[in-house]
Amino acid sequence: MAPAFEDNNSETLPSSFSSGSDDGVLHKSKVTVVGSGNWGSVASKLIASNTLRLSSFHDEVRMWVFEETLPSGEKLTDVINRTNENVKYLPGIKLGKNVVADPDLENAVKDANMLVFVTPHQFMEGICKRLVGKVNGDVEAISLIKGMEVKREGPCMISTLISEQLGIAVEKFSEATVGYRDNREIAEKWVQLFSTPYFMVTAVQDVEGVELCGTLKNVVAIAAGFVDGLEMGNNTKAAIMRIGLREMRAFSKLLFSSVKDSTFFESCGVADLITTCLGGRNRKVAEAFAKNEGKRLSFAIWSFDDLEAEMLQGQKLQGVSTAREVYEVLSHRGWLELFPLFATVHEICVGHLPPSAIVEYSERKPRLSLLEGSTQYY
Ligand SMILES: NC(=O)c1ccc[n+]([C@@H]2O[C@H](COP(=O)([O-])OP(=O)(O)OC[C@H]3O[C@@H](n4cnc5c(N)ncnc54)[C@H](O)[C@@H]3O)[C@@H](O)[C@H]2O)c1
Repeated sequence: MAPAFEDNNSETLPSSFSSGSDDGVLHKSKVTVVGSGNWGSVASKLIASNTLRLSSFHDEVRMWVFEETLPSGEKLTDVINRTNENVKYLPGIKLGKNVVADPDLENAVKDANMLVFVTPHQFMEGICKRLVGKVNGDVEAISLIKGMEVKREGPCMISTLISEQLGIAVEKFSEATVGYRDNREIAEKWVQLFSTPYFMVTAVQDVEGVELCGTLKNVVAIAAGFVDGLEMGNNTKAAIMRIGLREMRAFSKLLFSSVKDSTFFESCGVADLITTCLGGRNRKVAEAFAKNEGKRLSFAIWSFDDLEAEMLQGQKLQGVSTAREVYEVLSHRGWLELFPLFATVHEICVGHLPPSAIVEYSERKPRLSLLEGSTQYY
């Protein structure tokens, strides 16, 4: 069992909390972060610095860790709690002494009234199943996860999966943007929890728009990586990013008519797309894939799975699985010809097309006649 962190800030509570009654303490929000990879650790650190500062939150931030044994033979949770550092996924950075790593999922969530979900999306269905009936009835939740589940009935956003399985309302956080459904007050509480003087967070009333920006930009980043691997230069890459952004917006609006154009101009939209296409793990691995393809005759061909294992050391690549999920939606709905960039990325990833196809196919004009009224989305 993970140790508990002693709350010290009761001495510094504002008068409404320090009146001697237990009320203030009872109303303090307790945060648990479900996930502890690279972004999960960054989020925990950020949140932990704010819970120490803000008296409306308990100091302690519990972080559920998918337990692993390190090469030294020690458990990852033990090392995090001893050194205050996630040596595997965020080495060299202190998380804050009030972050407590906990390998027991049920124990980690049982006292929380604010849950932050931040695991690779492929694990979320299993995690939700384990949490049914285990979370507090009045819990508020936010998803930092990028990706979606594709089911026979259609695509299911991860925030919807969590809401449906656990019966809780879920907001969405992506690159300094909180997407909320209707409760501005709760959104502001999340903004408070994530903001720092050097990290400005804004709230927009568009959960699906924010979630789809975060999800789809990883597919565009794979395309940008192919362009880099083939050394096609900045103009080509900028063109790919522009077409990618256009497809992101069109796809999101076709799936959810509530999605707003303005969301694509928030940090979760164009800003995150640029960062991800310039740096980021999806771009990096796609670049290596395209480079390797050129050496096809003299070397063994590396698949994305091989490259992920070799280059990311336990971190997960989201863009390739998202490209497959998007492709499934496109073929199921008869939209393949409307989204040449998205479709081509998947076909390259699975080896049906060479990486060079990214420029040939993505420049193809979408056949808008396939879908009545679709021009309004482009
Ligand atoms: N890294 C970023 O910059 C960033 C930014 C925003 C959002 N995100 C999103 O946050 C989510 C988490 O990304 P990350 O960077 O924290 O993770 P990561 O890729 O760095 O690490 C993978 C994590 O998955 C865990 N894991 C492995 N097998 C598991 C299993 N069977 N069940 C549950 N967990 C398992 C590992 O322990 C590790 O914590 C993703 O959806 C990602 O898209 C990432």
